[in-house]
Amino acid sequence: MQSSHFGKDFLWGVATAAAQIEGAANAYGKGPSIWDTFSKRSGKIKKGHQPTEACDFYHRYKEDIALVKTLGFTVFRFSISWSRIFPLGDGAVNKEGVAFYHNVIDECLKLDLIPMVTLYHWDLPEALSKEGGWTAFGINAWFNDYVSFCAKEYGAKVKQWIVINEPFGFTSLGYMLGVHAPGQTGVHNFFEAALHTAIAQADGAKILRGEVKGAVIGTAFSCSEIVPYTQSAPDLLAAKRTDALMNRFFLEPVLGLGFPTANWEVLEKFAISHSTWRYQERMKFDFDFIGIQNYFPLVIRYNAFIPVVQAWEVKAKNRRAPHTAMGWEVNADSFYRIIRQFAAYPQVKNIMVTENGAYFQDHLVDGKINDQARIDYFKAYLAAMLKAKNDGVNITGYLAWTLLDNFEWAEGYQARFGIVYNDFKTQQRTIKQSGYWWQEFLSR
Ligand code: NOJ
Repeated sequence: MQSSHFGKDFLWGVATAAAQIEGAANAYGKGPSIWDTFSKRSGKIKKGHQPTEACDFYHRYKEDIALVKTLGFTVFRFSISWSRIFPLGDGAVNKEGVAFYHNVIDECLKLDLIPMVTLYHWDLPEALSKEGGWTAFGINAWFNDYVSFCAKEYGAKVKQWIVINEPFGFTSLGYMLGVHAPGQTGVHNFFEAALHTAIAQADGAKILRGEVKGAVIGTAFSCSEIVPYTQSAPDLLAAKRTDALMNRFFLEPVLGLGFPTANWEVLEKFAISHSTWRYQERMKFDFDFIGIQNYFPLVIRYNAFIPVVQAWEVKAKNRRAPHTAMGWEVNADSFYRIIRQFAAYPQVKNIMVTENGAYFQDHLVDGKINDQARIDYFKAYLAAMLKAKNDGVNITGYLAWTLLDNFEWAEGYQARFGIVYNDFKTQQRTIKQSGYWWQEFLSR
């Protein structure tokens, strides 16, 4: 298998996110984000790590973008930190922050790389969180102002846009389970945040469509094939519900289908109490691509003690299934099947894999990191994607997660997903064998 098997227009890139790599969290006029404050709360992040310095991309962007080029990729995906542009979320603009993203974009263009911008990758301005964040009624107006600003400011140079990164990820982890920023809990918060996020996703896309000539607009969904543990009726039901929440909940509104609430009392109540049908049109947008981000499948079993979903994950290690250092099952066939599941909607015209990758324990030996497991992971997942493409699925690109080892949210700096190793003490970058593997793969 070589990259040319995917066709000459296929986009190959790496994906990153502001809070995970930039650092300079309290500098150059940036306002705090929810991750800056959340990470200071004791016990929230492994080893008490904070994103204050991260990979210091803020100062090293030239070197890092040059690495993307050296490795042979054509796309550099990064996100804009909302509070670097608007330190308080809305109102006064931080000119230095605005200039920083111009520099990043210009550097990409100089090297003939396509800049792909994610507008929201989880780092909400803290000032807006104090007003309720994604649960607040005002969030849609704040978000739309921010999107309009970015579209006007960068639209002449940036054509590839992702509105929101993994809506299910941050609304569930941050507003229902409390394990991500801003650390809120409860299904009520989740529903509020989810409705506003689903609206923001389409609103943002419509703003981009109006402002940016020639824009290619997508949004990025997390997804996982959901496999029932047994064929018993309760396990089947638990799996079906998990699928509705994890795979369909944010996708179907953009396709014009509304939230998948049917036959599930808790969700039906949410739909009624929030009159979600009123927003059906507003949540819809004809995206140029649907971004999917897949890492693992989930095996699901019925469990009456779990609120709302009554579902429980049977972990890969307990099933003796191969898994990464995150405990995530390695299963390229399930990647193939989830691509097919998303492509099966007639409204989905085009799929881009906007993230995929793995954390394995890396060991620096004689200045080298021989991460064969990561290479094998990429090989298997790419082969699965090629199979889907050869079946006729319109897949137009693939972005590896990620360029550099970075701040992996609640896991801190320990969970290394990079194809380039980062020494967080010296900020020295070392290309892993997987990075060299990509270089070779992309050259043919
Ligand atoms: C999805 C998120 O978008 C990204 O920020 C995260 O680091 C990766 N998954 C790996 O967990």
